[in-house]
Amino acid sequence: MTRHDYVHGYDPRESRRLVDQATTLTELLHSDTIYAIGESVLEAGCGVGAQTVILARNSPGAQITSIDISETSLEAARQKVHVASFTNVTFQQADLFHLPFPTDCFDHVFVCFVLEHLRDPVGALRCLQRVLKNGGTITVIEGDHGSAYFHPDSAEARRAIQCLVDLQAELGGDSLIGRRLYPLLAEAGFCDARVSPRMVYADDSRPSLVEGFTRNTFTTMVEGVREQALARGLIDVAAWEKGIRDLHRTAEAGGVFCYTFFKGVARK
Ligand SMILES: C[S@@+](CC[C@H](N)C(=O)[O-])C[C@H]1O[C@@H](n2cnc3c(N)ncnc32)[C@H](O)[C@@H]1O
Repeated sequence: MTRHDYVHGYDPRESRRLVDQATTLTELLHSDTIYAIGESVLEAGCGVGAQTVILARNSPGAQITSIDISETSLEAARQKVHVASFTNVTFQQADLFHLPFPTDCFDHVFVCFVLEHLRDPVGALRCLQRVLKNGGTITVIEGDHGSAYFHPDSAEARRAIQCLVDLQAELGGDSLIGRRLYPLLAEAGFCDARVSPRMVYADDSRPSLVEGFTRNTFTTMVEGVREQALARGLIDVAAWEKGIRDLHRTAEAGGVFCYTFFKGVARK
């Protein structure tokens, strides 16, 4: 994947969004991922380290190796881990399709919000499987933008979301990949796969989810493709602006937003 194949880009606003996303969803996505003392974990596609700090905190005795193809993102991740004073993480610039590690060397692999951006997710899973020890686990977390529904409903908001789905597909990704996790893990040759849906439900009674997820994670992500969507003629300005206004409306009084993540765990 080149910088241009990554639909969300690498600017500071996107870095903040990834951190908001990880912080808001820590309990929902990470509560059952605890690695034992002395175990080795490869985090593939760590980005700016939003999940890395959570992994390091939840499994203080594990040795985590976090890789990303982007040196700029890795630098931000290194900084985050340094500020948090974690000493159990090592960073390395690497392409997950050409991992610079021996076969059968990690006890676990963790990969979050990466497969959705790749042209060949099964190939990626096979590359990760190579470096995993026999009996070791892989944990994969992905979203699925088709799982977004909300009140008040809005055809324009749904069209704006569809622009992101279409743009990501044009770049070879799949933002509807969450529903495919089980077949992808099976096709890559993993066994004992278990996939669990993790639903985010945000209404007035959960203000931190409204702020952290509806507004700062999901709506910000859709807003981020404005220029690309308009330039490609996927939607006109008036429909786009109404769609974004309507997404913001779901984060206001009486609004409701639902979205489902998928978490798969399987064994080599
Ligand atoms: C959406 S970000 C997710 C980052 C992090 N996992 C998180 O949840 O915040 C996707 C990351 O995958 C990285 N990536 C994409 N293709 C990669 C590859 N072939 N090898 C390593 N990293 C890759 C990108 O550079 C980006 O940082």
